[in-house]
Formats: sequence, structure tokens, C-alpha cells
Amino acid sequence: MCSLMLSKKEEDILKGEKGEVLQLAMKILVSVGKIFNATKLVPIKSAHISGISIQNIGEPGLRFLEKISKEKVSIQTTCNPGALDEKRWKKQNINEDFAIQQLKIYSFLRKMGVSPSFTCTPYLIGNKPIPNEFHSWGESSAVIVANSFFNAYTNREPGPLTIASALIGKTPYYGLLIKENRLETIHVKIILKKRKNIDLTNLSAIGYAIGEYVGEGIPLIDGIKFHSLEEYKSFGSALATSSNVSLFKKSKTNKKSKLEKIELDEKDIKNVFEKFYSSNEWDIGLIGCPHLSLKEIMEIYKLLKNKNDKIRRKVILYTSRKILEIANKLGYKEEIERKGIEFFTDTCMVVSPIEKMNFDVLAVDSCKAAHYLSSRGFKVILKNRKEILEG
Ligand code: F3S
Repeated sequence: MCSLMLSKKEEDILKGEKGEVLQLAMKILVSVGKIFNATKLVPIKSAHISGISIQNIGEPGLRFLEKISKEKVSIQTTCNPGALDEKRWKKQNINEDFAIQQLKIYSFLRKMGVSPSFTCTPYLIGNKPIPNEFHSWGESSAVIVANSFFNAYTNREPGPLTIASALIGKTPYYGLLIKENRLETIHVKIILKKRKNIDLTNLSAIGYAIGEYVGEGIPLIDGIKFHSLEEYKSFGSALATSSNVSLFKKSKTNKKSKLEKIELDEKDIKNVFEKFYSSNEWDIGLIGCPHLSLKEIMEIYKLLKNKNDKIRRKVILYTSRKILEIANKLGYKEEIERKGIEFFTDTCMVVSPIEKMNFDVLAVDSCKAAHYLSSRGFKVILKNRKEILEG
């Protein structure tokens, strides 16, 4: 029997006393709450909406957003990338009918008061999750960073639930919102001969390999050090791709618990690179899954600064519009573009119709991108950023 208790105010919303949109939102919260045996709804500090690409949600998703956009969100809310760059979509070779559908989605979100962030790294542009507070975020790569780096409390919520939560300002209390459910469940020891200079792609491969081993739970990661948010982002996004993991730990919370221990080494990482190796030649490099931070763009700028020539192969960088604006002010954007590299914002290689760009083999530096692009039938090769830029 379900024990979800609603307050009088919540009951009234459920009965439709605050209008049909909020009633629908409350119905979504209650249904999900019942599925997960939540006992109550709890107030949240922010929401991040995933699943806004017309390529993924199609006409039914568009209609849902149209319907729900009659009400405004009640808390800080950002949203994921969609299928196109709002300003430069013609450069993506996207047809107009498809573009119109996606642009409608963008306008529905704006109408609701959602920040037009269109990024999977909302924590880099002002939606920084508050530690020890509840949030309702979609997007697995953002959720794992919110939980593991910021110590915020969010489940990996489905898109419609994040929208409902944003409207009501609450979410069902279950899963990783409950402190007792946030204890490590498995000890993962990484044994590497060369511990230094593990680049972001190697970290991504390690995260992916761990995910394939553990499948779910809360791994305690031992044997590698993390030095930056960017490292959490690369590692976490890959771990959350090959598994249902939404939180990992770097130190033991429950000192007394005896955990099952598994060990991974270079061989496991090599297997990931072999898995994503469709060819030894490639014709385009796609970087920015998850979206690039300012620091990453600065590093790319530095890497290319002293090279006089344009790079040999086509490369696209994906980031958020806000980060690109800052990179532009700092002169990084222009300098990088002078080397023949293109930027897209609001979208990414996975949620856009990348096939319209007519490339054969895609080089990526992220296991999340490699995983989803190969599952869409593309030939993919996993390479580190420097190799892609110097290729
Ligand atoms: Fe972000 Fe797209 Fe990768 S949404 S995490 S860049 S698949």
C-alpha cells in the first residue's frame, strides 16, 4: 500500500483547484512518488530539465511541453541541449521543418520561465547545486556531478518529472534524496602503473569500465585522484552512461561497513578504447561531451596558440552559449576559430542529427559520446583531445 502523504495544499493542486497544468504536474509527482514508495514530497532548490531534443521526444513531447508551458516554473530551472544551435542551425544542415519544431520547444521553455541555458553543464553557468539540499535534475552526467562533486541531493529524474518538479517546486522523497541511501555499496580499486597524467579521455574510459562492472549502486573509487570539476565531469558522465550509478564516493562514509571489492587495471581501460575503435582513420573530431567548461576552452586555445596553420581535419567544439560568450570576450573563441575549428552551442553531437553533416568516422574524446553515437550506428573512434586537435 502506498504511503505517500500530501499536504492540504498539495491535495488541492491534485484536485485541480490551481488549474489543469499544475494538476497534471502534481499527478506526475504523485505517480512517480507511488512507484518509488516515496512518503512525501519535499521542496527543492533547483531543477534541470532533460529530454528537450525533438529528435528524442518527437511530436508527443512537443505537445506535452506546449500544454504545460501555460504555467511558470516556481524555482531556478535550467534545461539540457536540444537538437540545434538556435542561431547557427543552418550550418548543421538541418531542414527547416525539423528546426521549426525544435525552436518551438525552446520557446515553450522560455515561456515557462526556464533559463535558456540549453546545456548539460548547468552547474557551470549559474545553476550550481546547493550542498545537502534537494534538487530535481535530469541528465545523468549533470546528476552524478551534482551528487558526487557538489554533494547536492538529486535522483536521476526522467524529463517529465523534472518539469513537474520545476512547476510545483517539489519532488518525491525517495532514492538518493534519503541520506541513508547515499552510502557506498562497492569498493572499486583502480590499479595503474602510471598514475600521473591521466587525461580526461582516460578518466572517461575508467569511469565507463567501472560502470560496466558495477551496473548500479554507489562505488567508492580508490586509486585515482581527482583534481578538478572537469575531471569529475568526464569520469562521472562515462560512469553514468554504462551504468545506473548517479553518485560515487572518494572516501568512505561508513567506516565500519565491509564492502565487496573489485579491481580494475590498464587492461580494462584498454578494452574500452578497443570497444570504440571502428577505424584507424577518421574525418571529424567532436569535442564537448559533456559541454566544455571555460577552463577546457582555454586549454584548447593554449594548445593551438603557437601553431600557425589551420588544423588538418574538421573539429567541432560543443559548449553552452554562456561559456562561449565569455570565451569570446577573452579572445579564445576567435583564435580557436582561426585554426578552422567550429563552435556550436545549445546542442551536442548526440542529441542533434549529426548524420546531416555527412561524415563517415567520428573521433570523440568522451565515452558517453562514443557509446551513444555507436548505438546510433556511427563509426566512432575514442581519442584524447590532443590527438583529435593535432590529428
Ligand atoms: Fe551533454 Fe550531449 Fe554529452 S547532452 S553529456 S554533450 S550527450
